[in-house]
Amino acid sequence: MSSAHHDEALPTRLARNADAIEALLDRLLSFEDGPGEIARPERLLAAMRHGALGGGKRLRPFLVVETARLFGASEAQALRAGAAVELLHCYSLVHDDLPSMDDDDTRRGRPTVHKAFDEATAILAGDALLTLAFEVMADPETHRSGEVRAALALCLARASGLAGMVGGQMLDLAAEGRFEPAPRALGEPDIRRLQAMKTGALLRASVEIGGLIGGADAAALDALRRYGRAVGAAFQVADDILDVEATPEELGKATAKDADKGKGTLVSALGLEAAKRERDRLRDEAITALAGFGEEAGMLRAAARFAAARRS
Ligand code: IPE
Ligand code: IPE
Ligand code: MG
Ligand code: MG
Ligand code: MG
Repeated sequence: MSSAHHDEALPTRLARNADAIEALLDRLLSFEDGPGEIARPERLLAAMRHGALGGGKRLRPFLVVETARLFGASEAQALRAGAAVELLHCYSLVHDDLPSMDDDDTRRGRPTVHKAFDEATAILAGDALLTLAFEVMADPETHRSGEVRAALALCLARASGLAGMVGGQMLDLAAEGRFEPAPRALGEPDIRRLQAMKTGALLRASVEIGGLIGGADAAALDALRRYGRAVGAAFQVADDILDVEATPEELGKATAKDADKGKGTLVSALGLEAAKRERDRLRDEAITALAGFGEEAGMLRAAARFAAARRS
């Protein structure tokens, strides 16, 4: 099949995946207690549902599912692993928007969780989404092999903690100059590292998790990691460009906030035009990393183009 064919198929596939993830998250966040649970506090559950349901591109689970598909994995298992990654991502957004972090009022076209509820509830909802992510990953329904489940949890933990997303968020806030001692101005390599951690790590892990679910061998996992690293980098440069060029209506969140806050972005370091060239170079690097995979990786190539060219 031609790449054009796959690019036409991507919106349909992405939408179908988003529907399946929505349905699964809705079940995981059901109003009924799970087996062995004492109670699900209503306000906490409502805040978690606000943060996780009804919006988002669901790109991370899409990468999990489409990568797992390459290796013929069970779609139900891939969806569960994808839902775990999405729960982790939603937690990161709930906390990213808090008054003490980026202080945003709108997310996915709706009030942020601390606006719709209150700050303490938003912190707890984030904590519980994070914990649920690992509960889903560790559940035998996600994979019958305990060894694979441990590898999935390890991959998600490494991507999201100290040296991953949370570490990147720390560097992102430090770059604003809000802590003593004030940092020297970030250079391009510092910004690349910050972005590889805060956003890149979880996108890369999504691809790797799809490979692990599918039982990919070491060489395939290595190629997938290179693809995921480049897609992750392209995705955050695109986010920085959209902050300058898109409208709040398109994005469902406030725009023109990075320069105001003094965020370290590739747009601030390189300028808008050079940032766009870098975004496109990273897209091509991602596609090149898939050279060994042949036609069946067309949807992942289309996903790289989507991550770079998206308008929302
Ligand atoms: C937004 O992520 C935060 C970043 C890492 C740039 P997405 O752009 O994937 O947000 P949703 O999930 O589609 O809302
Ligand atoms: C967020 O980056 C990365 C996360 C780990 C949530 P941004 O702060 O740029 O994301 P938006 O623009 O608020 O979605
Ligand atoms: Mg932020
Ligand atoms: Mg933010
Ligand atoms: Mg942003």
